Amino acid sequence: MVTYVQLSTKAKMPILGLGTWQAPPGKVEEAVKFAIDVGYRHFDCAYLYKNESEIGDGIQQKIKEGVVKREDLFVVSKAGEETHPVDDNGMIVPSNTDILDTWEAMEELVDAGLVKAIGISNFNHKQIERILTKPGLKFKPANNQIECHPYLTQEKLINYCQSKGISVTAYSPLGSPDRPWAKPGDPTLLEDPKIKEIAIKHRKTSAQVLIRFHIQRNVAVIPKSDKPHHIEENFKVFDFELTNEEMETILSFNRNWRIVEMLNAVNHKEYPFEEDY
Ligand SMILES: NC(=O)c1ccc[n+]([C@@H]2O[C@H](COP(=O)([O-])OP(=O)(O)OC[C@H]3O[C@@H](n4cnc5c(N)ncnc54)[C@H](OP(=O)(O)O)[C@@H]3O)[C@@H](O)[C@H]2O)c1
Repeated sequence: MVTYVQLSTKAKMPILGLGTWQAPPGKVEEAVKFAIDVGYRHFDCAYLYKNESEIGDGIQQKIKEGVVKREDLFVVSKAGEETHPVDDNGMIVPSNTDILDTWEAMEELVDAGLVKAIGISNFNHKQIERILTKPGLKFKPANNQIECHPYLTQEKLINYCQSKGISVTAYSPLGSPDRPWAKPGDPTLLEDPKIKEIAIKHRKTSAQVLIRFHIQRNVAVIPKSDKPHHIEENFKVFDFELTNEEMETILSFNRNWRIVEMLNAVNHKEYPFEEDY
């Protein structure tokens, strides 16, 4: 059973998707095919992840096999690093391109029929406000994809987005344990004893509780895995419900711990994470 988040475009986005950052090109095609067999209909991709053509191959194969139709799939991509020139030290060069100009270029993609919906990622509420109040705005952002998990619960930003009819997708829902910059002593969501306790009560795994948490906030969630057993486990989240009390308890774990700080962009004029939300 697939459940959806309703977008302002009237399209429906499957609430659970497969993340693909760091899924190696040699593995991701099989992972995508397996995920489609399991029931995934939403794939989160990006030019930057350097595996989009293999993901496309996996999708094409499942369409050819008749397992799925293209119109049943929700495939997300993101404008690539070509929009963010980097200097010799890997620091993002502050560009003069305004986010409003970028947004107009994205609107042209909709007009040209190249994409069905356009969204944003890592935008704070002030940046979103600038888009929403832009004179001549044609399409508002359908979705804002942000880091979200029990240590960064994003209540204010989610409330703000949802109040404006902008859906939210939670990235790094499992705490991104394979992030290259992980340090010993960093918090580990999957090992959190209080999450484990809730999971045991429901005969579920910590990963399943971490994923379910978003679904009950009407927030889409995109755990990454390239392992069949994890891909399958992460999809088994539609047969249990966290109680209101458990949801409140999980929300209380917030410690504003950001995994994806994008420190190489701190000097960029649009660096988004200095705002409260
Ligand atoms: N817009 C942005 O700026 C942005 C930033 C970061 C991420 N994202 C998107 O969000 C997706 C998810 O975030 P993420 O990749 O940072 O981290 P994540 O989904 O929180 O964690 C992925 C890690 O968890 C492991 N894992 C998956 N299922 C598991 C399970 N059931 N039990 C134990 N471990 C499990 C994976 O290993 P295996 O693969 O070995 O299973 C992988 O190491 C990304 O892949 C990407 O699509 C977007």
